Amino acid sequence: MPAILRLENVTKQFGGLTAINNLSMSIESGTIHALIGPNGAGKTTATNIIEGVYPLTSGKVYFRESDITGMPTHEIARHGLGRTFQNIKLYNTMTTLENIMVGGHQLAKLGLLPSLVRMREFNREEKMLEEKADYLIDYVGLSGIRNEYVKNLPYGNKKVLEIARALMTDPELLLLDEPAAGLNPSERSSFIDLLKRIHDNGKTLFLIEHNMDVVMNISQKITVINFGAKIAEGTTREIQNNPDVIKAYLGVRYKVK
Ligand SMILES: Nc1ncnc2c1ncn2[C@@H]1O[C@H](COP(=O)(O)OP(=O)(O)OP(=O)(O)O)[C@@H](O)[C@H]1O
Ligand SMILES: [Mg+2]
Repeated sequence: MPAILRLENVTKQFGGLTAINNLSMSIESGTIHALIGPNGAGKTTATNIIEGVYPLTSGKVYFRESDITGMPTHEIARHGLGRTFQNIKLYNTMTTLENIMVGGHQLAKLGLLPSLVRMREFNREEKMLEEKADYLIDYVGLSGIRNEYVKNLPYGNKKVLEIARALMTDPELLLLDEPAAGLNPSERSSFIDLLKRIHDNGKTLFLIEHNMDVVMNISQKITVINFGAKIAEGTTREIQNNPDVIKAYLGVRYKVK
């Protein structure tokens, strides 16, 4: 299987702190690949580097073997990368539909500020975005709250909404930073079903998650980092039984006999 994303000897320092330490890894196209590790291990920093939010100190990032190191976030999105955030980033005074449409604006031809001359074209583009947003609202199961203001929505709905917004750009690879954090067990189980469905429909998922039920349930491959460096990589079974991982992160609870 070809790599959709590859990190080559990536290091990121914040002042004297090395948040990512010479990390190399690749995500195969069509897989669900999890990145796990203790709090502060560097998981969110890794996604921010991939997405071009932070410049890296050294190393390279490749998307389908094209070098995206140092590219601005919107250009990386055009290559086919989408993401959700550890801390929900939605517009509270906008509706579910409007928030999802925002996800499409970053790739829309005309952006948010059309000239008067191009108003008709702008309206046509808005219409297309709305149709697509409506399709996604249905797809993720949020039709009942299409016109609700986000500030009135329960937390679980917001986490799902973020996924729909990320799907607006048709990403080939979706980076999910703790998408199931804070969900109750029933929300979590329908969330797992949603992630599986997205994967079945052809997306590659890169999943950062502390909940091991989620990770072990859906991942094909897991990379474990600690203090910014890779300590293990393998299948769920290999990771569950890896003594270094058990010591640094999992404890004995997930060891498989
Ligand atoms: N913008 C920043 N400036 C300075 N230090 C930062 C910055 N972002 C992250 N760090 C530091 O880098 C290290 C890795 O943080 P990061 O948020 O990537 O960890 P994480 O694995 O996502 O943790 P968690 O599981 O708690 O979300 C931490 O020591 C953190 O304090
Ligand atoms: Mg994090």
